[in-house]
Amino acid sequence: MPFDFRGKKVLVTGAGKGIGRGVAIALNKAGSKVYALSRTKSTLDSLVEECPDIIPIVADLCDWEDTREKLEQLEVLDGLVNNAGIGGHDYDAVDCPKEYIKHILDNNLLSAINCSQVVAKKMIESKVKGSIINCSSVGSLAAYPRALPYSVSKAGMDMVTKQFALELGPNGIRVNSVNPAVVYTPLVQNLVENGTLSLETVINNIPMGRILTMEDIVDPIMYLLSDHSAMVTGQMHVVDGGCMSSLIVKV
Ligand SMILES: NC(=O)c1ccc[n+]([C@@H]2O[C@H](COP(=O)([O-])OP(=O)(O)OC[C@H]3O[C@@H](n4cnc5c(N)ncnc54)[C@H](OP(=O)(O)O)[C@@H]3O)[C@@H](O)[C@H]2O)c1
Repeated sequence: MPFDFRGKKVLVTGAGKGIGRGVAIALNKAGSKVYALSRTKSTLDSLVEECPDIIPIVADLCDWEDTREKLEQLEVLDGLVNNAGIGGHDYDAVDCPKEYIKHILDNNLLSAINCSQVVAKKMIESKVKGSIINCSSVGSLAAYPRALPYSVSKAGMDMVTKQFALELGPNGIRVNSVNPAVVYTPLVQNLVENGTLSLETVINNIPMGRILTMEDIVDPIMYLLSDHSAMVTGQMHVVDGGCMSSLIVKV
């Protein structure tokens, strides 16, 4: 879908790989100035090789203060995509250690609060009517095995969306979640490779009959960043090929 982001400035977190990388490239092609934040420098190097205009920021979002310092140096932005996230599917709920839960919440939830605070404050001060997108998951809406910290992080993310949408609405700033089902990215490839996830089972349970691709998520994020969604805020946007609409599980 063609979007025009000329003159806009957008920060994408977790832009080294997967969905975040896809969003950064799509924004770059649509004319936006793009700040791409990620943890591993080599992935950002290859992104800049592909799109030389993109400005890389190497940061670990689990480091609250360092991230704040880096983001405070940026100009006022029009958009923020809180995309960075990791899986958290290593334990049954009854065995899940505290430190593991804290790490997933730090990485997937507190990181989005931190980035939103810094970016939104600057938008407010400069009277910029920006848009913030949080990459949540269908895991925020329904439980599945061994997903306690991940699902809690994403359920929390949806409430972060609603809370910021409520408080930033009077400043003209919109905040929305996208909630994808399984998307074929490096995160999912890892889960398939270590036996946590069966692709066949995933596809069998999607009425549309195929796994989601990155483009299936990138376009909704572009729509939510754009003025085409001018009165859409505080909402969860499920992109799941229909799997959450059905109680039928094909085995
Ligand atoms: N793929 C799916 O099926 C799916 C479904 C629903 C929701 N989501 C959500 O969508 C988002 C993107 O997922 P994805 O599949 O594209 O993941 P991915 O392929 O693993 O890419 C995630 C990117 O985020 C970066 N990142 C992770 N933690 C970070 C941190 N603490 N600081 C800075 N960068 C960090 C990673 O950096 P490194 O290169 O250093 O690892 C990587 O570049 C996540 O929030 C995920 O939960 C994904």
